[in-house]
Amino acid sequence: MGNQAKLTAGGKDFDYPVLSGSIGPDVIDIRKLYGQTGMFTYDPGFTSTASCESALTYIDGDEGVLLHRGYPIGQLAENSSFMEVSYLLLNGELPSKTELDEFDRTITRHTMLHEQLMSFYKGFRRDAHPMAIMCGVVGALSAFYHDSTDIADPVHRRISSHRLIAKMPTIAAAAYKYSVGQPFLYPDNSLSYTGNFLRMTFGVPAEEYEVVPAVEKAMDRIFILHADHEQNASTSTVRLAGSSGANPFACIAAGIACLWGPAHGGANEAALEMLKEIGRPERIPEYIERAKDKNDPFRLMGFGHRVYKNYDPRATVMQKTVREVFDALKVNDPLFETALRLEEIALSDPYFIEKKLFPNVDFYSGIILSAIGFPTTMFTALFALARTVGWVAQWNEMISDPGQKIGRPRQLYTGPAQRDYLPVDKR
Ligand code: CMC
Repeated sequence: MGNQAKLTAGGKDFDYPVLSGSIGPDVIDIRKLYGQTGMFTYDPGFTSTASCESALTYIDGDEGVLLHRGYPIGQLAENSSFMEVSYLLLNGELPSKTELDEFDRTITRHTMLHEQLMSFYKGFRRDAHPMAIMCGVVGALSAFYHDSTDIADPVHRRISSHRLIAKMPTIAAAAYKYSVGQPFLYPDNSLSYTGNFLRMTFGVPAEEYEVVPAVEKAMDRIFILHADHEQNASTSTVRLAGSSGANPFACIAAGIACLWGPAHGGANEAALEMLKEIGRPERIPEYIERAKDKNDPFRLMGFGHRVYKNYDPRATVMQKTVREVFDALKVNDPLFETALRLEEIALSDPYFIEKKLFPNVDFYSGIILSAIGFPTTMFTALFALARTVGWVAQWNEMISDPGQKIGRPRQLYTGPAQRDYLPVDKR
């Protein structure tokens, strides 16, 4: 008999198996708990709950480690490409050259959107937030690609996964084009996944668009850094939506909706707005004091993380990438100095030290994206674009598990007990 955890409840002892993963904390298997004790566990925000078994991504928050299928994020960001990382997440192993070329070709061939879907955009107000458009358009994909929505069929699942990964740049670029009143550009199959996205976003039909290799590389690296992140809020949303058997396009639309919030993917937009508001390094102490004040709702955006209690390894790469993009584009943004100083001051402040609050992936990403030319409203849309591969890989992993069940949490009910209805004249 392996490890057991003992629980005493209602004067009786119960044993629960302790399961071990390949690395990381063991988990107490409480699946029989309710049947045996009549009790639920209570864990709002899931701070102590492993909601599933997964072989995709591992995070050690105390050590600041992030692994995709075992490979450290720093190595992937330095040496790999977003297409290769996508293949790795979906298939479990790094591809051979032939496998990578084939995967790349498949994704490239799926980048066009159904022409009628393009007319959807016109229904949005010109000032619509790109994330509002993304939720709508991605949800609408299920109305266009009926031929790949049988989730029980692995081939259908693969096709819809490829479609989602491939079409996301086209959808995001069109959301941007619509907001600035420029014509949509069709994908160009001669370009890389990332180069194609840059062209569809910043190119115009009136002239050739030249992809700047350093920008393409930086953008591709940003996509790698956002590709997957274990069971975060939006991924758990995708899994929960998918657990009912909903089609993948609807599930990813649900993930996009969850990602939008400022505590999650929306933090990159909020972090840059915050840096702009702070403006000069002299004003930093005022904002540090506000972040520490319990009566002030202000938080340092791009700081802190539910899992990382150390430097977010993605922020390390992001900070380095800022300099590379500045050098390539021969620009300098004084907000970078403000961000560096803010980090320095916060990391020497006892409040942030005690609470283990470090910069996260969103702290520096906005500075890079803004230097490349993206408006802040596009930041979270880019996060959604890159995270799509993680979402579909996690969704696939869940659906292919023969023991998969609908997700159905329970609750601690604190409302009124049963009572009788009173007609309105008796109330
Ligand atoms: N600024 C000031 N104080 C903070 C911050 C912050 N950014 N983050 C956490 N704290 C404090 C918080 O007030 C609390 O203090 P106390 O224990 O005295 O009540 C303590 O630290 C723990 O915070 P929490 O909110 O209980 O922790 P959480 O794990 O629920 O929240 C978080 C994690 C990411 C939502 C939070 O750190 C936060 O709001 N950060 C700013 C938003 C942000 O940058 N989000 C992006 C996360 S990374 C990208 C992604 O995955 O989407």
